Amino acid sequence: MIKYQAVVFDLDGTLTDSAPGILAGARSALETMGRPVPEEAVLRRFLGPPLMDSFTRLCGMSHEDAARAQDIYREYYNHTGALQNAVYPGVRALLAGLRQAGVHLGVATHKPLAPTMKILKAFDLLRYFDLVAGPELWENPGPTKGELILRALPQGLRAVMIGDRATDLEGARQVGVDSIAALYGYGHPEEFAPFRSAGLAHSVRDLYGLLGLSEQAPRPCFISFEGNDGAGKSTQARLLAQRLRQNGHDVLLTREPGGTAVGEKIRDILLDRANNDMDDLTEALLYAAARAQHVRQVILPALKAGRMVISDRYVDSSLAYQGGGRGLGIPRVRQINAPAVEGCMPDLTVFLSLPPGEGIRRAVRSREADRLEAAGDAFHDRVAGAFRDLTAEDSRFIVVSSEGSKQETAELVFARVQERLTALGLP
Ligand code: TYD
Repeated sequence: MIKYQAVVFDLDGTLTDSAPGILAGARSALETMGRPVPEEAVLRRFLGPPLMDSFTRLCGMSHEDAARAQDIYREYYNHTGALQNAVYPGVRALLAGLRQAGVHLGVATHKPLAPTMKILKAFDLLRYFDLVAGPELWENPGPTKGELILRALPQGLRAVMIGDRATDLEGARQVGVDSIAALYGYGHPEEFAPFRSAGLAHSVRDLYGLLGLSEQAPRPCFISFEGNDGAGKSTQARLLAQRLRQNGHDVLLTREPGGTAVGEKIRDILLDRANNDMDDLTEALLYAAARAQHVRQVILPALKAGRMVISDRYVDSSLAYQGGGRGLGIPRVRQINAPAVEGCMPDLTVFLSLPPGEGIRRAVRSREADRLEAAGDAFHDRVAGAFRDLTAEDSRFIVVSSEGSKQETAELVFARVQERLTALGLP
C-alpha cells in the first residue's frame, strides 16, 4: 500500500545527476576570479547547498566576492551547465508509477526557479509534477528548504521529502514532513546520522519499498531508423540514443545489417564490391539471415529486459531495397523475412527523407561507395519509391526531413519521437 499522499523531490542528486554542469560552473567562476580551484572532492560539496554558502564557506570568499562568483556561475550555468545533466535511470518509471497511484508530486530545490523549470522541461520531467518550488531571483535572503517544501505541497497531505543532502532532511523536519535520504546522490553517509527516522535509499529502486509502491515491469520500446543511403540515419540514431539516455531511458543502440558478430560478417559479404555477381534472392536471404541472428541474439533479449532498443535500419530496408530496388516485390520480401522477424516489429520508425541523389553524394564524399550505394540512380529511385509507399500506408512511421543541419534534424526527430512515446503511454 502506498504510504504517502504527496512526495516532494529535491532536483540535483535526487532526480538528476547534474554534477558535471554544476562543477564546471563552479570551476569557471573560480578561474574567472583568479581563485585557486579546489580538488574535485572539495568541489563536489557545491552539489546541493545554496551557492553563496559554498563560495563563502568552502572558498573563504567575502560576501561581495561570493555574489560576483555566483553571477559568473549563473552566466555559465544558464547557457551551458544546466543541460550537462542526466535523469537517473529508473526515476522516470518511478514518477509515472506514483502519478498512476494518484500521488501529488512536487519539486523543492535551492536551484532558482527559472533554470529548474528549464531543466525539468528539457529532460521531459515537468509533466509529472503538480508543483515546483525554487527560489525566485528577487528573493533575498532566499527561502529555507522548509519553506520550499511547503510551497511544493498542498496543505494537509501525508507527505515525504526525498533528498540527497542533510539540508533536505533538515527542511523536512522543520515543517513536520517525513524524509528519505537519497544515498545515491551527492551526500556523505555521515551527514545523515542526525536524521535517524529518515528512510535510506541506496538506489532509485529502494524508493519503491520505502514509499510502499509496487514496482511495475519496465515497458520495452523498439524504435527503428530508416532512410535512403546518406540520409544521416546513423548519426541521428546515435544522437537520439544519447538524448533518450540523458532523459533516463535504458537504451540499446544497434544496427543492420550487423549488430552481432555473425551479422557483421554477413554485412561484409553484402557490401563487398567484389561480390557483384550476387543474385538478388541470395542478397535478400542474406539480409534476412543477418536479421534472424540480430532479433534472437540482441533485440528480443533487450526488449524482454524492458530496455529501449534503437536499430539503425530494420526489415523496412529489405522491403524497400530488395522488394523495391531489386524488384523482388514487397510481398515476397515480407515472406522471406517472416521467420527472421517473428512478429517483432518496431513501435515506431523514424524515416529520414532526403532526395536520394543528394544522399549518395553526401555518403560517398569522403570514401568509396559500397556495393549497394554503387547500384545506380534507377535502383535508388525505386528504393525511394518503395519507402514512399511504405511510409504512406503505415502510421508507425514518423517522416522527418533531413535537409537541415544535423542539430536541426536531431531536434525534429527528438520532438516527434517524444510525442509518439507519450502517445504510446511510455514513461
Ligand atoms: P548502412 O550501413 O545502414 O548504409 P547507409 O548508412 O549508407 O544507409 O546499410 C548498408 C546498406 O545495406 C545500405 O545501402 C542499405 C542496405 N540494406 C538493404 O539493402 N537491405 C536491408 O535489409 C538492410 C538492413 C540494408
